[in-house]
Amino acid sequence: MTKRFYITTPIYYVNARPHLGHMYTTIIADVASRFQQISGLETFFLTGTDEHGDKIVKAAQKNQIEPSVYADRISKMFKDLWPELNVAYDKFIRTTDPDHIAVVTRVLQAIHDAGDIYFSQYEGLYCFDCERFYTERELADGKCPDHGTPPEIIRESNYFFKMSRYQNWLIEHIKANPEMIQPERYRNEVLAFLREPLEDLCISRPKTRLQWGITLPFDENYVTYVWFDALINYISAPGYPDGALFNKFWPHAHHIIAKDILKPHGIYWPIMLKAAGLQVYQHLYVHGYWNIDDSKMSKSIGNVVDPLHLASVYGTDAVRYFLMREMVFGLDSNFSEEALRQRINSDLANDLGNLFSRIMTMAHKYCQGAAPDVNPDVRAGKRADLSEPAMAAVADYCAAMENLETHKALSAVWHFISIMNKYVVTNAPWELAKTENRSRLNEVMYNLLEGLRVISGLIWPVMPETADKIRRILGLPETGRPIMLEQINAWGALSPGTAMGKTISLFPRIDAPDAPKSRPASNKDGSVKDSPFTAGGTSADPSAPTVAADPILAANPGLLLSIKPEITFDDVAKLDLRVATVISAEKIPKADRLLKLGVDLGAETRTIVAGIAESYPAEKLIGRQVVIVANLKPAKLRGVASQGMLLAAVSDQGAAVITTEKPVPPGTTVK
Ligand code: ME8
Repeated sequence: MTKRFYITTPIYYVNARPHLGHMYTTIIADVASRFQQISGLETFFLTGTDEHGDKIVKAAQKNQIEPSVYADRISKMFKDLWPELNVAYDKFIRTTDPDHIAVVTRVLQAIHDAGDIYFSQYEGLYCFDCERFYTERELADGKCPDHGTPPEIIRESNYFFKMSRYQNWLIEHIKANPEMIQPERYRNEVLAFLREPLEDLCISRPKTRLQWGITLPFDENYVTYVWFDALINYISAPGYPDGALFNKFWPHAHHIIAKDILKPHGIYWPIMLKAAGLQVYQHLYVHGYWNIDDSKMSKSIGNVVDPLHLASVYGTDAVRYFLMREMVFGLDSNFSEEALRQRINSDLANDLGNLFSRIMTMAHKYCQGAAPDVNPDVRAGKRADLSEPAMAAVADYCAAMENLETHKALSAVWHFISIMNKYVVTNAPWELAKTENRSRLNEVMYNLLEGLRVISGLIWPVMPETADKIRRILGLPETGRPIMLEQINAWGALSPGTAMGKTISLFPRIDAPDAPKSRPASNKDGSVKDSPFTAGGTSADPSAPTVAADPILAANPGLLLSIKPEITFDDVAKLDLRVATVISAEKIPKADRLLKLGVDLGAETRTIVAGIAESYPAEKLIGRQVVIVANLKPAKLRGVASQGMLLAAVSDQGAAVITTEKPVPPGTTVK
């Protein structure tokens, strides 16, 4: 019987665009799915979006659109992003799908009928951003540990799920299945949590407070708590209760998440499954957090990394490789473009890229562009110099991949690559070519080409495009499909006489100062980072990946934008825009957002009130050139007369003032 593997990512909230963190989890799930495919398993890979709840309502309100319209837009961004990153999911679920809603309703009713849900009045500390109640013990200095804001006291009547009833069962289950939560530190974290009495879970929100959710089947005045709704996606997507996919795949379910959502997955979810009479998932794999340039990735810092831009600048395979190689599964990791460039240059351009082009160039020079004929013992691996290290690499790679330790799996492959590079040097085919020892030259070249074949198979789950390129040039037929481990392991599979294609440069080097331009990244103070994302210029290497237009935005013009009605040139010409230099800046007392700026317009100075205090400390603006609307009727703001308006780009990441690309005399017209 074919073995099966069901892998899931968290379903992502649709309150913001996809970022590096989502990208990592989804790519590692894709890599796991592809690895199980080459191991011969039948796979089902699920991802999707989590669309109900307060967070989404707030984000939609901010954009002045209905939650459903907002959810449609952001969900589409996630859905369209994954194929761009070569993520081959089998199903994309949305919690607003009618099928999902039907399953949530059914599960709630079943748990209610079983007597595990009760109604009660509750007073508790609630964090609106987390959409959950906190116990005193969980707070940090009385504040939400995630948002740093004081929770509000809420008293309301709600429905509760009797989780406490299952506490002992869960402890026993985790102890009896030591592999269930991995790595071990997270299993220990869950067990530590379970040492304290488990509180029952509030699973409803009154409609007087929130309407954007799934109505409870047993009380239409309430919607379902978003986590209770969201977790059920893992069974609704394959078609619980009697869909064929559900029966086939649920017994082989593996979830991947980051440490932020350990509690719902390690505690609520197994208990919900138990209460609904279902088998618990097989594994919960928990990874750490990506930090950016050593700080937390956050919108307010303005360091959120956009996956598409990253892939368009550096190439999808290179970014996939970096993420899988750099993060030790379970631990936090640091992302920086410098580290990414270093990996591309050393591991991909130098080690793999050079090895590949060296071997292919020699195959054309010394073997007329075809796999050489060798003694059958060399093909059988008996007398093949590289077959043993190749098979050792395969074994180490597989052992690591089974535990999602992609960094170890890739380092096993790169260890083999370094052995191959040394083999080239020690056997010096160019010297052999000068002698009469044709058969030794053929043996060496055959070993090298076979080594490349093995490498191409092993890198396929992480770098499918590169694997296919290598295989095409090696003259192997199976491009575009998984290369089974059985085939990878079969030393000698390359038939003598197979015609090779012309070599190509797999990974051009990327040099920092000339790296292509992409996402404008800003520092906390709004200043522009010294980064190739913002540095102009083109890559020194003409074949380096170039910045492609954002394909999602290109396919969806007007996405998230509500453009004002058309105006004419005459309307624009009425604006008198001028460059001004900031000469003084101070906060306006009792106005959190406002700064009072003194600006030099050349012939005169003006006072301007600007709502950018949350994005810029006053002193950082002094000396900066800004652009103002100079002919705006003066207006008093908090008692200060503002003689113009400062232009800034404003997003939910804060304000970024508009400036000129190089210094110009104050008062210069902008047109
Ligand atoms: O929590 N580093 O959705 P979410 C690594 N809807 N991974 C990160 C990350 C970072 N800095 N930031 C986010 C939700 N992630 C719920 C899930 S599931 C039934 C409901 C990844 O959009 C990581 O996988 O906040 C994390 O667990 C997930 O995004 C949280 O995504």
